[in-house]
Amino acid sequence: MAQSFPRPRGTRDLLPDDLVLIRHLERTARRVAETGGCVEVRPPLFEDTRLFARSLGDATDVVEKEMFTVPRRSESEQSGSEDSGGYTFRPEGTAGAARAYLEAGFPQRGPLQKWYYLGPMFRYERPQKGRERQFTQFGVEIFGAAGPLADAEVVEIALRFFEALGFGAELEVRVNSMGDPADRDRWREALRGYFEPQLAERCSDCRDRFARNVFRLLDCKVERCRELNAGAPDLFAVMGEDARVHHEGFLDAMCALGRTVREDRGIVRGLDYYTRTVFEIHYPPLGARSALCGGGRYDGLVAELGGPATPAVGFAIGFTPTEIALAALELPSESELADLRGALAPEVWCVAVTEEERLPVLRLAQALRKAGRRAALDLRGKSVGAQMKEAGKSGAAWLAVLGPDERTNGALTLRSLAGEVEIPAALSADLDAALRAALKDPGSR
Ligand code: HAM
Repeated sequence: MAQSFPRPRGTRDLLPDDLVLIRHLERTARRVAETGGCVEVRPPLFEDTRLFARSLGDATDVVEKEMFTVPRRSESEQSGSEDSGGYTFRPEGTAGAARAYLEAGFPQRGPLQKWYYLGPMFRYERPQKGRERQFTQFGVEIFGAAGPLADAEVVEIALRFFEALGFGAELEVRVNSMGDPADRDRWREALRGYFEPQLAERCSDCRDRFARNVFRLLDCKVERCRELNAGAPDLFAVMGEDARVHHEGFLDAMCALGRTVREDRGIVRGLDYYTRTVFEIHYPPLGARSALCGGGRYDGLVAELGGPATPAVGFAIGFTPTEIALAALELPSESELADLRGALAPEVWCVAVTEEERLPVLRLAQALRKAGRRAALDLRGKSVGAQMKEAGKSGAAWLAVLGPDERTNGALTLRSLAGEVEIPAALSADLDAALRAALKDPGSR
């Protein structure tokens, strides 16, 4: 059949079977974040467009090309704000978290905050393997801690997430430093001087980015450009003492945690707010788009949004590339997903033998559900044979058959592959209690 209303490009319908893995990723993220001392926050899914332009940078790909923006409609909303750009569905979570931190007054009432979030982000990217227009990120942001232990703490939380999912040595942690703002000014000039004579030889993206954001030339994926990058000036040659000491402290802390990291001067990140530590966690077999996680320090952002100087560091992990990497590694094991997969099937299927049992079965299902059991019953007036068949297909562990006999003697028999449980007086007023007692352990399938 022709599909008149196809799903928007770069989106997915997550159906019950797909959600087994997604829910496992979500619960793993929550557990790892919470054992790491983080608490959940849920800022809105859209923000004033200017928040992203200001935080991520006007000249970044995300802000220039990838924003899902909705114009403001009401006249009254427009008055009083010059250049109102409308609202944008969040392309990432850091800007909204920093805005919320400031708006709730945390700089004054509790500067140290360790937050995590989990939810959809939106970028109008060209959909390709591992890249979607709506995708889920698990992110952590620590506000109020200036020292390098906080940087190590966020990398450690990200690594714990991957470890808990079963990843091992196949992941690579690539780290770098973007220095302090004055270091970056010096470096920007040095890079301009180096790249300018090469521009004719470089790709059109590089020529484009040269004036707007020269750092981006360093992470160009085009082979020829990468070769030309080999002799580019190193930020570390012009970096001030404070940022250098910070970077060494970060490396020492990673070492103390027993984590191997690789210095990679090509990690410059696509967003403008970073200062000092930046890092990415890669699954190399994914090729050019192998980053499962990106993050770093952004000590200037809260001040940029109008607040007091506030150090901050965080990361975000993309579920989409993580799912691809997990599939390649045949992770997670079926046993880890067994409870979530099991929850897709009812535990007890309640069968009505004749029409007279339709309402007693409805009541039985109600009692089972009150006792905390997933109970199912026929809602379409099917024959007893068809009900039995459906029960078999449903994967239910137990069958509760209610017929004229059971109604007469008030007893109920629950059958399963593992055996039978007789529930005396089950249809009496004590049904709830009787079920609770009988179903304490309904056995395994
Ligand atoms: P990011 O590097 O833009 O950083 O994104 C982090 C991760 O999100 C990427 O490594 C990737 O796994 C995933 N991701 C990004 N775009 C897409 C997409 N279109 N489809 C699927 N997955 C995607 C940030 O977002 C920063 N907010 C990270 C951060 C937090 N820095 C400090 N705190």
